[in-house]
Amino acid sequence: MTEHDKSKADRRLTDYVRQFHDTFDGSFPEVPTSLGPSSYELLANEVSTEANDGAPVVLDLGCGTGRLLEILTERGIPPENLIGVDFSPEQINRARSRFADMPVRLHICEAHNLPLLDDTVDYVLAHMSLAVMKPIEKTLREIHRVLGPGGVLAVVLGDEPASGSIEGHYSRILSETIARHQSDPLSFESVDTQTAPRETLADTVRRTTGMQEVVPMRPFELMMQMSGAEYIAFLEGDYLYQSLSDPARREVVEAVSRLFDAHGENSVDIPLTMQLAVFAKPAAVADESGGLL
Ligand SMILES: C[S@@+](CC[C@H](N)C(=O)[O-])C[C@H]1O[C@@H](n2cnc3c(N)ncnc32)[C@H](O)[C@@H]1O
Repeated sequence: MTEHDKSKADRRLTDYVRQFHDTFDGSFPEVPTSLGPSSYELLANEVSTEANDGAPVVLDLGCGTGRLLEILTERGIPPENLIGVDFSPEQINRARSRFADMPVRLHICEAHNLPLLDDTVDYVLAHMSLAVMKPIEKTLREIHRVLGPGGVLAVVLGDEPASGSIEGHYSRILSETIARHQSDPLSFESVDTQTAPRETLADTVRRTTGMQEVVPMRPFELMMQMSGAEYIAFLEGDYLYQSLSDPARREVVEAVSRLFDAHGENSVDIPLTMQLAVFAKPAAVADESGGLL
């Protein structure tokens, strides 16, 4: 893939995601995970309320309706230290209604072009948003720029579904349907995986910013329970499902309904695979004269 093709594919995906959120709120179900707390709480747990004398500055990248920021206010972080950015005006409007009485700073902007000064943020959090922020290298360099020394980047991302699980079957049904119906499907990959080996997020973060993982990526599952009808309603919020034509969507619904047929109206366990990754920018070190490097 040439640089030109890559930036064209990135632009197409970006336009699609922005338009998608005009209609669809990108919030995730707030249910327990296999690690205990909800996926929002897992990210909030990465923020030490003791940092920066009890007032860490936290940026939520792709904040959507602001639920993660709200959890941080509930934990006592001053609202004026909380910043939410999202490139979807609709998502920011939803967040503004949530924080009508609080001075949380909310900006409509691209993740790779933040209206923030260098070294001014203690934590950057991204809940189910970093994977679609293109170009990813530019976004990661921007995160590195705004984080102060010792600053932390913590992200929750989707993961490959387990084969044989409902999510695994859905993923297969979706890719087969896309192959039948779309000659030029949307791609979330940053590289052409036909010609280049797939890089993990940790590799991309290290390569572009030099930041290191604080702990190895932690896989976990969102402990969802849904009936077939609920699962089909849940698919409405899936970027790729929504990119299909009506007949293609009907094929997916029929195939998914068959998966659930044996369970009738009953709720089925549907663990959604996710992962938590935490990176840190090196702390500033003093040189021999006592100045900071
Ligand atoms: C799946 S939603 C998650 C929203 C929120 N973090 C949550 O979990 O409730 C992804 C969000 O990232 C935002 N987003 C995607 N790409 C972006 C970009 N390049 N710059 C800023 N925001 C972006 C979308 O508008 C959307 O609100």
